[in-house]
Amino acid sequence: MSYVEDLFSLSGKRVIITGGAGVIAGTMAEALIKAGAKVCLWGRGTHHPVEEAVKRVAEKTGKPNAVSGVTVDTGIEEDVQKAIEKTIQVMGEPNGLINAAGGNKGKSSFVDVDIALFNEVMHMNLLAGLVIPTKYVAAYWIKNNIKGTIINLTSMGSYVPLSGVWAYDAAKSATLNLTMATAKEFAPYGIRVNAIAPGFFIGHQNKALLIKDETTGELTDRGKAVIAHTPFARFGKHEELAGATIFLMSDAASGFVTGVSLPVDGGYLVQNI
Ligand SMILES: NC(=O)c1ccc[n+]([C@@H]2O[C@H](COP(=O)([O-])OP(=O)(O)OC[C@H]3O[C@@H](n4cnc5c(N)ncnc54)[C@H](O)[C@@H]3O)[C@@H](O)[C@H]2O)c1
Repeated sequence: MSYVEDLFSLSGKRVIITGGAGVIAGTMAEALIKAGAKVCLWGRGTHHPVEEAVKRVAEKTGKPNAVSGVTVDTGIEEDVQKAIEKTIQVMGEPNGLINAAGGNKGKSSFVDVDIALFNEVMHMNLLAGLVIPTKYVAAYWIKNNIKGTIINLTSMGSYVPLSGVWAYDAAKSATLNLTMATAKEFAPYGIRVNAIAPGFFIGHQNKALLIKDETTGELTDRGKAVIAHTPFARFGKHEELAGATIFLMSDAASGFVTGVSLPVDGGYLVQNI
């Protein structure tokens, strides 16, 4: 193997990706498989069935044996426990977890905040998006002495509030906090926890918020504001998340890195006046 392959090969990695039918999850799955890993996509099977996502990743990578899927709502504890058992059957023991379930929903002034929706978005991004899968996968690793690696999905809203999306901001700042807190908690077991903070990439969940007309590519006012605030003056291309994903999943490349959130944001967080 070349020096670069030694550093970045993910051969022997078996990675669960939650929100596996999502856009960012699909990109990360492709990157991991191309670097030698096996991937099990966990999806809710509602709007975007996980079988379709598995087929797509298999076709794009040309490696159908490297990708499998399990239908599970990661917000339900018992279902996640069962999904770990199924994953072991279809992929083998997992030693990586990417918490990519989540998304933004609704926008309002604070005084008009809809409490039911607030709870739903918090639950989706914090409990389904991090706490429940991490709890059960890490428990399995600790019990079986597996030195696993976790990557969470933080956001620009983890650092600086995004206007009008109160629950998303609250949940995503909590995912940044819990990335650090669980990194400390699991370090004695050799488990690393990091995060990737994407700037703005078009996903299923934010398309309507950012793009007014898909045929012409005309942006909403929110979409225009994002571009104006991003020094690179564009949305991210999904493949630009591949390098950060492989780096943080590879023990050879990032074995002493834990508790960090890596922005991939075209400079969004360093914008000034
Ligand atoms: N797209 C961006 O610009 C961006 C920026 C920062 C952070 N993120 C985060 O990255 C992650 C992926 O976003 P995306 O843009 O690919 O969105 P997406 O909507 O394409 O994918 C998210 C997936 O999560 C799934 N999901 C939600 N709740 C679930 C649950 N309880 N159980 C199982 N699956 C569930 C959805 O069904 C969907 O398939 C999210 O956490 C999002 O907040 C995205």
